[in-house]
Amino acid sequence: MRMVDLIEKKRNGHELSKAEILFIIENYTNGTIPDYQMSAFLMAVYYQDMTDEEITEMTLAMANSGDVIDLSKLHGIKVDKHSTGGVGDTTTLILAPLVASVGATVAKMSGRGLGYTGGTLDKLEAIPGFKVEISDEDFVQIVNESHVAVIGQSGDLAPADKKLYALRDVTATVDSIPLIASSIMSKKIAAGADAIVLDVTTGDGAFMKNIEDAKRLAHTMVRIGKLAGRNTMAVISDMSQPLGEAIGNSLEVVEAINTLKGHGPADLVEMCYALGSQMVVLAEKADTLEAAREMLEEALNSGKAFEKFKEMVQNQGGDVSVIEQPEKLLTAQYQIELPALKDGYVNRLVANEIGIAAMMLGAGRKTKEDEIDHSVGLMLHKKVGDQVKAGESLMTIYSNTEDIADVKELLYQNVTIGGPTEEPPLLHGIITD
Ligand code: URA
Ligand code: CA
Repeated sequence: MRMVDLIEKKRNGHELSKAEILFIIENYTNGTIPDYQMSAFLMAVYYQDMTDEEITEMTLAMANSGDVIDLSKLHGIKVDKHSTGGVGDTTTLILAPLVASVGATVAKMSGRGLGYTGGTLDKLEAIPGFKVEISDEDFVQIVNESHVAVIGQSGDLAPADKKLYALRDVTATVDSIPLIASSIMSKKIAAGADAIVLDVTTGDGAFMKNIEDAKRLAHTMVRIGKLAGRNTMAVISDMSQPLGEAIGNSLEVVEAINTLKGHGPADLVEMCYALGSQMVVLAEKADTLEAAREMLEEALNSGKAFEKFKEMVQNQGGDVSVIEQPEKLLTAQYQIELPALKDGYVNRLVANEIGIAAMMLGAGRKTKEDEIDHSVGLMLHKKVGDQVKAGESLMTIYSNTEDIADVKELLYQNVTIGGPTEEPPLLHGIITD
């Protein structure tokens, strides 16, 4: 087989066979196929698309390019959850203990944040002492006893994706549905869970800027998951504005604690129920999404979910006293209000730009090497649809410097106040096939 012939075949809109796709992924990963040929291939995929069969073969080839984690020592059905990217997305911190508290098994590998999107590991590390790197033996023991652990990636998961993603990033081929679907699902499949719940975000803060594309991505990933033997469901969610009120690592831990105590922001709580219900059904702890939701509501309102969070923090070496007194986590030197400049209604809170403002304060990384400041971030007091009066605070900026003119300017550019506006719908659909 010659790569040039395969590029031509895809360029002309033909379907590649399983053997051809395996050839491409294996030989790109091992360095035989050079970046310039792979770049041409990616652009051909971008324009010509792939069939479900091609995407599935590509996903499996990428998943098998490195370690495939064996979670068979863990009891029960292991459910995983993945978001295609958000701002202020605190759901994993809440869902892991919430879903575990009703008996589902959550053995989750999470990632770090980059750019305007936050990462669960960074948030968890805002809890003093919390360890995201634990030995395989400890991991198995903790999950078998307690049903939940959230850790960093171990092993060499989907190296084909690492290489491909870096190439896509510099060849304008990131926002392609077959390429995103195979990238995400290859990592999920390699991470070993039996069942996968996907939060496919849409809006300014997401890869998929419109709902139709998000739905197609969701259907594609659900089908790949099932073809790979992993029961999979998806939720299409709105990410035009940040989720919940907190953006930033410590602030989101506090938000997670409040939510687990039954005092969370309405949109975040609703997202947790939507995703959590799917996780509980896939874990076979409830027959219907409605029954699962009732179990989760009970766990949240009875304090069972919060107790599970404390257990998880303790098991992973975290300081439980900060979970009981979360104000201990609010250590930023300055809390600066951002007053509204006029009366009206919040029309827009542009998620990605607000995420960038939080990153500029130190809450996120511009490059992989950047250090994170866990204490900084933003607390939104107004969301889209809310009425606001001139001088009233739109949000509190948690900062370790008073020199934040650039951050304030970016925020003002991305909070639009105008006439009455509807609150945007949070969910755009539930995809189960
Ligand atoms: N997240 C991924 O892991 N891969 C993509 O291609 C897009 C989002
Ligand atoms: Ca949040």
